[in-house]
Amino acid sequence: METIQEQEKIIGMPRIGDNAPAFNAITTQGEINFPEDYSGEWVILFSHPADFTPVCTSEFMTFAHLEDKFAKANCKLVGLSIDGLYSHIAWLRTIKEKIKFKGMKDIEVKFPLIEDISMEVAKKYGMIQPGESKTQAVRAVFFIDPKGIIRALIYYPLSLGRNFDEIYRALIAMQAADKFAIATPADWYPGDDVIVSPAGSCGVAEERMTATDELECEDWFFCTKKLDKEEVLKAIIKT
Ligand code: BEZ
Repeated sequence: METIQEQEKIIGMPRIGDNAPAFNAITTQGEINFPEDYSGEWVILFSHPADFTPVCTSEFMTFAHLEDKFAKANCKLVGLSIDGLYSHIAWLRTIKEKIKFKGMKDIEVKFPLIEDISMEVAKKYGMIQPGESKTQAVRAVFFIDPKGIIRALIYYPLSLGRNFDEIYRALIAMQAADKFAIATPADWYPGDDVIVSPAGSCGVAEERMTATDELECEDWFFCTKKLDKEEVLKAIIKT
């Protein structure tokens, strides 16, 4: 029977705006000191339930296929599961040698995959959610910014493979929000109009009701402006 403290250690999870919990870990690409080794870069730290399972295999192949695309947006990938290093190595070799998925084959996973048999890292990041599984990590995705701050997190259950378009979209949208001091509306993609910060005073609210060339306001609290796709991509994507 676990004590309450033990249960809280398992269930507790970092929140948006927190510093990413630090750890050292063995990975398939050698040891890492997290998040220090990634200072100045965005990182997607993600967990998966187990090696040699089909949904996880499809996800790893997809992430590996997209690794360069994420790298061009200054973002590194780091995976984790509650498996040992040799299981990770054997699984990644099998993926490369044997597995085909959606036209992808001969896929080499070059980003680090953390071994976490002790569950130390998974517990720090709230990746063990006992209602779903006490022994396997759920499919967590942490977006960590260049200063080591957690900026977004998404959790999926064991049976549900992640949507990688959404993971990439969220990364680009957060970078655009930082670079252009804007917010992004529902389903935003580069080239769509962006949201300007809400009026913070009655005077600004009044101004927002006066037509300008730059802003389009539905009402004083809901104003958008154009942000050119090329401008967004030029600011974010390395060529
Ligand atoms: C999978 O990756 O296929 C999987 C892993 C754990 C539970 C269910 C599915």
